[in-house]
Amino acid sequence: MLLFLRIVLLDIQFHVMTALFTVEVLQPHYDAEYGSDVKMGCRFPVDSQLNLIHLSILWSRMQSETQKSKEVYKLHRGQEDLTLQDEDYRGRATLLQEELQMGRSVLHLTKVKPTDAGIYICVIDYGGSDYKYITLEVVARYKRINLQEIGEDEDLILTCQSEGYPLAEVVWYSEKNPNVSMPANTTYELTKDGLFNITSILKLQPRIAGNYSCVFWNKKLNQNTSTQTSVFALDPVHTSTAEKPSPILFILPICLLASFLLPVFICKVRRSKSFKNLCIQRGRRQK
Ligand SMILES: *[C@@H]1O[C@H](CO)[C@@H](O)[C@H](O)[C@H]1NC(C)=O
Ligand SMILES: *[C@@H]1O[C@H](CO)[C@@H](O)[C@H](O)[C@H]1NC(C)=O
Ligand SMILES: *[C@@H]1O[C@H](CO)[C@@H](O)[C@H](O)[C@H]1NC(C)=O
Repeated sequence: MLLFLRIVLLDIQFHVMTALFTVEVLQPHYDAEYGSDVKMGCRFPVDSQLNLIHLSILWSRMQSETQKSKEVYKLHRGQEDLTLQDEDYRGRATLLQEELQMGRSVLHLTKVKPTDAGIYICVIDYGGSDYKYITLEVVARYKRINLQEIGEDEDLILTCQSEGYPLAEVVWYSEKNPNVSMPANTTYELTKDGLFNITSILKLQPRIAGNYSCVFWNKKLNQNTSTQTSVFALDPVHTSTAEKPSPILFILPICLLASFLLPVFICKVRRSKSFKNLCIQRGRRQK
């Protein structure tokens, strides 16, 4: 009976201890731009002087696909321990040491990329243990659009390409008809940083002169990036000489060839006397 009471008391004591130690987020959600730095933080109770030797911190990121987590940064009893740090965070994740004295565990992540986005877990052990979740979202502006024009006979193929995050919607229109989007073929691939590399192809069949624009709409940022090109009609004189060469250029060599080959052919086939003479004469003349 006494033993039972002691267990219950210990249990209560344990609950009181863990309840006293609570980790709080500084901010539940962070937004960062591709290539920038971000500082995400948690708060934990520290009375008077921090005793580093009793402090352990773990930052990791959940992976929705595998239900596992990637280790981002670890402090073990006051000592940095990067032996199990995920390769993807090597050299990019640090803990701000000066913040620890004030009871803050602040993760400093540099050169942020879309593959860093997700849910982070901030675990702190300092007498008691607790953890909290923090969400990181990453955006990348479609800054620069590469526009390319390729002429194909009477047609013109316009290509717009750009990289950003998240996936943008691409719209093409002609200045003459700014309210009507033109049908284009838009595809994308992912870069190793997780950016969408979008290529959109507009075929002008046939090419019609005008000013054409392609617009990348990043819904998340509510931001438009566009570029324009002027398409000119093909010069009719230039096309007629380049694409339809004068018939004389074909006929003349054929006539010359025929005038030489025909008598030879006849000489071989018909060996009548009069033709023979002609052939001998020709042969002499050629010598
Ligand atoms: C769109 O472009 C892709 C890649 O260039 C091609 O494989 C696909 O067949 C095209 N689709 C249409 C409808 O033209
Ligand atoms: C994006 O795609 C285009 C065309 O497929 C390619 O030429 C370019 O190198 C790609 N850019 C990146 C950063 O992957
Ligand atoms: C394209 O735009 C320019 C000015 O931006 C204008 O001078 C030109 O006439 C336009 N071309 C056509 C075919 O509309």
